[in-house]
Amino acid sequence: MNLPEKVPYHLAVIMDGNGRWAKARGLPRQAGHRAGVENLRRVLRACGEFGIKILTIYAFSTENWGRPAAEVRGLLNILEMVIDRELKQLNDNGVQLRHIGELDGLSDMLQRKVCDAIELTRNNDQLILNVAFNYGGRQELVQAIRRIIADGVPPDDIDETLIDYYLYTGGLPDPDLVVRTGGEMRLSNFLLWQASYAEYYSTPTYWPDFDKDEMLKAIEYFGRRERRFGLVPQP
Ligand code: FPP
Repeated sequence: MNLPEKVPYHLAVIMDGNGRWAKARGLPRQAGHRAGVENLRRVLRACGEFGIKILTIYAFSTENWGRPAAEVRGLLNILEMVIDRELKQLNDNGVQLRHIGELDGLSDMLQRKVCDAIELTRNNDQLILNVAFNYGGRQELVQAIRRIIADGVPPDDIDETLIDYYLYTGGLPDPDLVVRTGGEMRLSNFLLWQASYAEYYSTPTYWPDFDKDEMLKAIEYFGRRERRFGLVPQP
């Protein structure tokens, strides 16, 4: 494979379409989420091959609590299963796991598993896998503002760098490319602050089918974009 010339350093993905993928096959929605995990494995491998260094995935939003209880339980089970079954391989492959969002709302046992996985992989440096679970962009800003006030930061000291630092993603560079599978053209409360200047790519392909070739199309689209960050084009 010829590697694309320009590759996003930080790729963020809204993994949408698992339910429709399952429905199209006459399967329960949970089968779609399981197929989504399978695909995550493939995408992680492809990130290594393309040289992407940070992958942020939207696995569970603060709004997803409103889904039927059985589906919510299924998604929580998937998080636990991923940690139980995949952690060793992720660690062996140098993946650093991070979490963005609130751990409150998860069982004590699941919270501990997430924290242990983060601790185990903290010095890995091949790829950062940033899992947005119980994540909401607005909630992230609320939490940041609360902590800024609680820390007694004087108003004049508040600038973009400081706000960056107080976000869940503090210390990580912003995403360069946000991909949404499943055809919608919405941010859905994902990385509201961080994605301000990201390129945005939406594909009708459902997440379980978003394979390496589909990823290449997204990266090539990114390569054709001229990122101006609000400036005028270079002569
Ligand atoms: C959106 O599809 C997908 C989700 C809400 C869950 C995504 C989760 C995974 C792919 C599993 C990976 C999870 C972890 C914890 C690593 P949808 O159900 O909204 O699909 P639809 O729009 O077709 O109904």
